[in-house]
Amino acid sequence: MPQRTIFLLSIFIFTACNRTGEPAASLAEKYSAYFPIGVAISKAHMEGHDTVLIKKHFASITAENDMKPERTINKNGEFTFGAGDQIASFASENDIMARGHTLVWYNQTDEWFYRDSMGNLLSKEKMLERLEWYIGEVLDHYRGKVYAWDVVNEAIAYEPDKMFREDIDWFRICGPEYIEKAFVYAREADPEVKLFYNDYNLIDPVKAEKVYKMVKDFQERGIPIDGIGMQGHWTLEDVTAENLSKSIDLFASLGLEVQITELDVSIYPFYHNIAEEYLPKEKRAFTDEIEQMQAKKYAEIFRVLREKSDKVTNVTFWGLADNNTWLSNYFVKGRTDYPLLFDTEYQPKSAFEAIMNF
Ligand code: GLA
Repeated sequence: MPQRTIFLLSIFIFTACNRTGEPAASLAEKYSAYFPIGVAISKAHMEGHDTVLIKKHFASITAENDMKPERTINKNGEFTFGAGDQIASFASENDIMARGHTLVWYNQTDEWFYRDSMGNLLSKEKMLERLEWYIGEVLDHYRGKVYAWDVVNEAIAYEPDKMFREDIDWFRICGPEYIEKAFVYAREADPEVKLFYNDYNLIDPVKAEKVYKMVKDFQERGIPIDGIGMQGHWTLEDVTAENLSKSIDLFASLGLEVQITELDVSIYPFYHNIAEEYLPKEKRAFTDEIEQMQAKKYAEIFRVLREKSDKVTNVTFWGLADNNTWLSNYFVKGRTDYPLLFDTEYQPKSAFEAIMNF
């Protein structure tokens, strides 16, 4: 068959398939020259149609919850790796990379972790000992199975005039030192694994600058760190080509890798750190108009990410399809959101096509 005919035929097949809802091409393959595309999953994703989509479109996975301290260790100090192991095995069986998420976070870590048997907060010395032990065990367990860890999650304050989150037990007990110690212990435990600092709203220049300062100081003092995870819980309004580019360039100027670790684009103008009572409660239908706006926003984001693929080493979606997203119900109870590439029936949305067609 002449080459031109093959070319026209493949365009026809691609378009026809998209019309019937079944994407012709794989997202991971399309982006293989740029960066691995990932998805956050739980045990429930490892059966049924979810697995088909995951294997077809994604080259990297992150456990949405199953490698967090509250899942990894019980209150008797026994490790409960079961679900995390299933996810790690699913990755290796299907030749998918796995990111580890997360070792140190003020959230989803049980209360006992910071306390002695009498229920009193640990001393700084004991807390750091426990941290070193925990990181050592977890990294040892996942050695060779997970290629990168979000070592510390969300330690920087969201208030512009404050550097660190202070209203958390980690800080109450250790001051900011727990952050650098976590990186040091992680490097000691596994010299090969990549170490990331992960946080939200890093398109905000003020917050990004604080992360930059912290990491620069780490580097000057020989504290190991390989990259910054920009979570990427964005909306139709907040992320722009400009603020995204600036933050990626800022972090990369430190010689670090940048990964987008938790990408979704909410259709609501939610704002981080606003109490539920003050959030706008209006519900939106996922109209054609909103679908197009979201597709445009995704196209804008991915244009920047492709342009900066020498700095961006992974882009992971925080969920597979709109039938299962933390954004429905989280900020406003009973409010459904539509932030991902596949709809509630697992069909590709306009956003999917928007990032595939370049
Ligand atoms: C943060 C955490 C994630 C997840 C989301 C909400 O971004 O890093 O692990 O809990 O919140 O789903």
